[in-house]
Amino acid sequence: MSTPTAPLGPTGGLFDPSVRWFQHAVFYEVLIRGFFDANDDGTGDLQGLREKLDYLQWLGIDCLWLLPFHPSPFRDGGYDISDFFNVHPDYGTLGDLVGLLEEAHGRGLRVIADLVMNHTSDQHPWFVESRSSRTNPKADWYVWNDDDQRWPEARVVFTDVERSNWTWDDTRQQYYWHRFYSHQPDLNYENPEVADTMLDLVRFWLDLGLDGFRLDAVPYLFQRDGTAGEHLPETHSYIRRIRKQLEADYPGRILLAEANGWPADVSDYFGEGDECHLCFHFPLMPRLFMAVRREQRYPITEILSQTPEIPDGCQWAIFLRNHDELTLEQVSDEDRDYLFAEYAKDRRMKRHMGIGRRLAPLLDGDRRLIELLYALLLSLPGSPVIYYGDELLMGDNIYLGDRDSVRTPMQWSSDRNGGFSKADFAQLYLPPLMDPVYGFAAVNVEAQRRNPGSFLHWLRGMLVERRSLPVLGVGEMEVLSCPNPSILAYVRHGEVADVPLVDVADPIRSPSLSPRGGPPPTTGGPTLLKSPVGLDDWSSWDETPARTVPAGNEEESDEAVHRSQAVLCVYNLSRFAQPAELVLAKWAGWTPLEVLGRVPFPEIGEEPYTVTLGPYGYVWFDLVQQAPPPVEEDPT
Ligand code: NOJ
Repeated sequence: MSTPTAPLGPTGGLFDPSVRWFQHAVFYEVLIRGFFDANDDGTGDLQGLREKLDYLQWLGIDCLWLLPFHPSPFRDGGYDISDFFNVHPDYGTLGDLVGLLEEAHGRGLRVIADLVMNHTSDQHPWFVESRSSRTNPKADWYVWNDDDQRWPEARVVFTDVERSNWTWDDTRQQYYWHRFYSHQPDLNYENPEVADTMLDLVRFWLDLGLDGFRLDAVPYLFQRDGTAGEHLPETHSYIRRIRKQLEADYPGRILLAEANGWPADVSDYFGEGDECHLCFHFPLMPRLFMAVRREQRYPITEILSQTPEIPDGCQWAIFLRNHDELTLEQVSDEDRDYLFAEYAKDRRMKRHMGIGRRLAPLLDGDRRLIELLYALLLSLPGSPVIYYGDELLMGDNIYLGDRDSVRTPMQWSSDRNGGFSKADFAQLYLPPLMDPVYGFAAVNVEAQRRNPGSFLHWLRGMLVERRSLPVLGVGEMEVLSCPNPSILAYVRHGEVADVPLVDVADPIRSPSLSPRGGPPPTTGGPTLLKSPVGLDDWSSWDETPARTVPAGNEEESDEAVHRSQAVLCVYNLSRFAQPAELVLAKWAGWTPLEVLGRVPFPEIGEEPYTVTLGPYGYVWFDLVQQAPPPVEEDPT
């Protein structure tokens, strides 16, 4: 058994101590710039994020993913870094970052951040030096060539704005290599100094307390003649080097690969369990959008059938939207045309090879459809990643350039600037949304907290449920046969462990769980805040005696109780009501208990099991071997 050294906060009892915590964690992607402005200068900052940890803890996420927070000229949203070892002064200081990490850890929240490995800004001092001559000490820190004809097989990623991966530099009188914007030269990993320095960088941030990294643009680290320069063996061997560092000195910290490719290529980033802990499942995401427009399960089942088994101890990261365009790189030309036609009816919605819109407007604000997609996200194999603001159904601004359309300020209240900042409106890094449908007057945290029927409460309730169904993270998935093509049904099953809580001294640190196996709750449904609530009080938590984790994740507890868990998930991808006849004979004799209300449904028999679902309906059943005792009849 390994001894985790992941930093624990002052009352870190609820910090899942297992090195496999990420297999059932819910991630929350946050743009510091857009989250909360604590010093009223118009830009979100680390202190602002720290002040909002109450909210994030209340929401029920497990791990924050911070987008780049380093010094940057902001020509690529901060992915153009000019100093890897520092914090952008607009966001605060290294001390503020450490303060944030300590506070988050004290609440049982982990924090990972982007590691932008592939490139720097052209304003980075390394590049300034490198371009100054062919003989300076950093001359080979970037990839230079006398002509722009080398590696013609490598595709240009941003085809709408860049014509070549080479750009001419007047001073050095050579071309430099870049896979993204021309102001982002690629580092030269053939140079051992670069490879070593980037490992120093990894250690630098882990020593400060980060729990891991999203490895940005990881497929492109090396180039080789005659190849497309993606997923090369040299890249994999460098990732293994990083992983070795983590295993040796930082167990419990994680690597998450941003590799946009087909499942077979991407799953190589798990290695043999010796590369990344998680990889984004990029091709699944557009197929979820495809499936609900075509009202057919096929796009989803087809990509899942192409998805290889992953090594033990690894996990997919799955998402609906993120800070970039909804990428359509991994679909056929025909499917891309279809998705553009369906989801980007205005040409201004297109960005690079994708669509620059947020989740809610993409789905025409249809709450049923959005719930359906979230329920899929929370039950398909993988750890869900939620993009900030999507828990509120925030909208977008397609008139802003590049990806700024989906990076507008978080909407906290209906106050000035949506409660994001007290700066003058003109000083804000981007204007907040003010339209009547998605603007901050209509869509904000404060209003949704007051309304138990809001999407925010719905999602929080679902996260509560998911926490007690960890089989949804790493359990086996068995797709059920069903004659109706609009129905997607599967059973997630496997071993789980109930682990007693170590520290319930402070209820604010106690995640709200509804433990399985106990009597059905009298009220039913997910735990909601009692109304009215004090809106500054985020501490209305239910105390519960145990949390449930996938078997294998309970290594720190001697008292873990093992049992099997099986969850039947049924989805209607159609906008009309549909019958679902499910082949469930394998589970004959078991009783489906509807997850939210603990309502027992008829026992499963040998015949197909019929469920009827309303438009975009979904239902999760806990499959139990013994039906609960009948509910007493109401004498009235
Ligand atoms: C991936 C990031 O998600 C994206 O925002 C960025 O433009 C590219 N890397 C290049 O830095």
